[in-house]
Amino acid sequence: MSEGSDYGLIGLAVMGQNLVLNIESRGFRVSVYNRTAEVTDAFVAAHPGKRLVGTHSLPEFVASLARPRRIQLMVKAGAPVDAVLEQLVPLLEPGDIVIDGGNSLYSDTERRDAALAARGLRFVGAGISGGEEGARKGPSIMPGGPASSWELLRPVFESIAARVDGQPCVMHIGPGGAGHYVKMVHNGIEYGDMQLICEAYALLQAAGFSADEMAAVFDEWNRGELQSYLIQITAKALAQKDEATGVPLVELILDKAGQKGTGQWTLVNAAENAVVVSTINAAVEARVLSSQKAQRVAASRVLQGPQGPLRVDRAALVAQVHDALYASKVISYAQGLDLMRTMSEKKGWALDLGGIASIWRGGCIIRARFLNRITEAWAADPALPHLTAAPFFRELLNRIQAHWRAVVALAVTHGIPVPAFGASLAYYDSLRSARLPANLLQAQRDFFGAHGYERVDRPAGEVFHTRWPEVID
Ligand code: 6PG
Repeated sequence: MSEGSDYGLIGLAVMGQNLVLNIESRGFRVSVYNRTAEVTDAFVAAHPGKRLVGTHSLPEFVASLARPRRIQLMVKAGAPVDAVLEQLVPLLEPGDIVIDGGNSLYSDTERRDAALAARGLRFVGAGISGGEEGARKGPSIMPGGPASSWELLRPVFESIAARVDGQPCVMHIGPGGAGHYVKMVHNGIEYGDMQLICEAYALLQAAGFSADEMAAVFDEWNRGELQSYLIQITAKALAQKDEATGVPLVELILDKAGQKGTGQWTLVNAAENAVVVSTINAAVEARVLSSQKAQRVAASRVLQGPQGPLRVDRAALVAQVHDALYASKVISYAQGLDLMRTMSEKKGWALDLGGIASIWRGGCIIRARFLNRITEAWAADPALPHLTAAPFFRELLNRIQAHWRAVVALAVTHGIPVPAFGASLAYYDSLRSARLPANLLQAQRDFFGAHGYERVDRPAGEVFHTRWPEVID
């Protein structure tokens, strides 16, 4: 490599700043550029003695970098990425690498990959998870793009990523948009996990648990099989008090969920590929319904549900909700993995599902102990057709499904919405049904549209049509 900075980063919002500090702390010299020069100057001035090079124009920035250049964009996904690329690309030389570290839509990444490749440049869509803290202390990184870029990015990414059991939480995911695609599914799963936790909270709350009591329950769960970052922060969030009133802060937070779109992208992609991601679907739709607060408040005045408090044995409820959460989580991950497997086959990405689960063990928002089990499942059988087929998960679901049903039944009886628990259980029951009522559905299709049907007593592929009786309205 020629003289100059080891790495360049464009976009000094908090994530960008934290990543720069992380990279610098691993011994790399980093050039930085931000559209607003004052931000660059303030950032460099705030970190004296560090190997940081502040630059005030893209030509100056590009000239400051060793070749082949490694330039990471940390700008808002969408049009801003194209705007930066438009200015940056003419300044680059063949072999240079541009990394997009934002939450870009994988198909945008594929388009950019092709455009840059046509100019001899290497474009890497890298999913980065872990929020601001992860960026500074060690994120989980999911880089896609040309394999030749990986050897040049590997020393930087492996040194800044989170580590679990000595392993860095980063791997080359696959060509083109594979990295951003896997990050998108990560986010879909994140939505599922968050909603499932919220449903557990809703049930415990309905049974009269105080915020502190629930914090203790989640804290306890975080010591067992459900150990995960999201369970951990849930315990902490429930224990948090409003400074002014002393009331648990969660009780004062408006129940309208926001979303930036990655969950919806997952649904769209699943629909395009005929893969069922019903837990993620329920999670996205729960956010949508939550955001329609005025409509819900109006409906709450006129639409009836069951009356009366939820009276249950509290310890039994905690055990049942724990299992409902665990079982639903397994289904949610099974669906997300199924989606990735399907796209991997379609695109020829050769995604390593066990490896992906392994780099999600640290740094990212869905980091969790049970991801080890997923890695083990694919290590034992690389051709595993579905997560629930793995002995560990099969036995787990068989063992805890009764509690799961009890929770969904209790919620339904008492009118407590548990869309993600319910969708997960319905998926499980559909999956384990050797025969579904789709025979009748086929009869209906043939009835009104002569669409044809196959028969259980005849070879597959042989299509039948019946002259159904006439309907007189
Ligand atoms: C992460 C997060 C991060 C962000 C999501 C969630 O992996 O670090 O997923 O990317 O928090 O965009 O966003 P919304 O909940 O607003 O959709």
